Amino acid sequence: MRKKIVAGNWKMNKDYKEGMSLFSEVVNMVKDELIGNQQVVVCAPYIHLHSLVALGKGTRQVSVGAQNAHQEESGAFTGEISVGMLKSVGVEYVILGHSERRQYFGETNELLAKKTDIALKHSLKPIFCIGETLAERESGKHFDIIKSQLAEATFHLSAEDFAKLVIAYEPVWAIGTGVTASSNQAQEVHAFIRKEIAIQYHQAVADETTILYGGSCNPKNASELFAQPDIDGGLIGGASLKSRDFVDIAKVFNS
Ligand code: 13P
Repeated sequence: MRKKIVAGNWKMNKDYKEGMSLFSEVVNMVKDELIGNQQVVVCAPYIHLHSLVALGKGTRQVSVGAQNAHQEESGAFTGEISVGMLKSVGVEYVILGHSERRQYFGETNELLAKKTDIALKHSLKPIFCIGETLAERESGKHFDIIKSQLAEATFHLSAEDFAKLVIAYEPVWAIGTGVTASSNQAQEVHAFIRKEIAIQYHQAVADETTILYGGSCNPKNASELFAQPDIDGGLIGGASLKSRDFVDIAKVFNS
């Protein structure tokens, strides 16, 4: 059975103190309330990560992730953070290819292929994001866009390496807008992604790949989304900034 994951992307929110208290609340609620095998991942700003790993130690269902990493091992890249640094403080996951990084920081599929390689080399698990803009969906190009994002940045991997990825489908038009993809729209794309993985690799690889949905996911709509056969959890932005909402989303997998 593939892994169910509810990951929070705090983006550029919460100062150090706020971040520690939010995470502590999440850990306590997870310990008290989660009864399934679902994994909760908190992807926080870099400066929080070391402390969050310490706070989460011993809570099997909680992992810590970064929101980005540089594509080189080390060197003269002022202001950047390497995957080796993330590993050295106990970080387990890294979000790669978030649409905000593609849009505001010019990240391309080619660059993301390099970031994916170095993350896997250091045994950091990528949560690899793909998704179309509103214009791309309205012009009927969304399947082509998603296919090329996946193919150009990840299909060079061996099946063994690809199996280490978590994929997140985040339609750009649903991020931070309050407009969620309907469960049918999301399921349609998730099934397409799984089919493309099966064509490139093998049905067994596709069947084991965790594919998350992201975009205005909240405690009200999560049950219907996660009930879809190809939706294995969520990548949560706004709602991950409230411990109650975030853990309620993760609790969908209790039943
Ligand atoms: P929202 O849940 O705020 O729409 O953000 C989704 C997202 O971008 C998660 O990475």
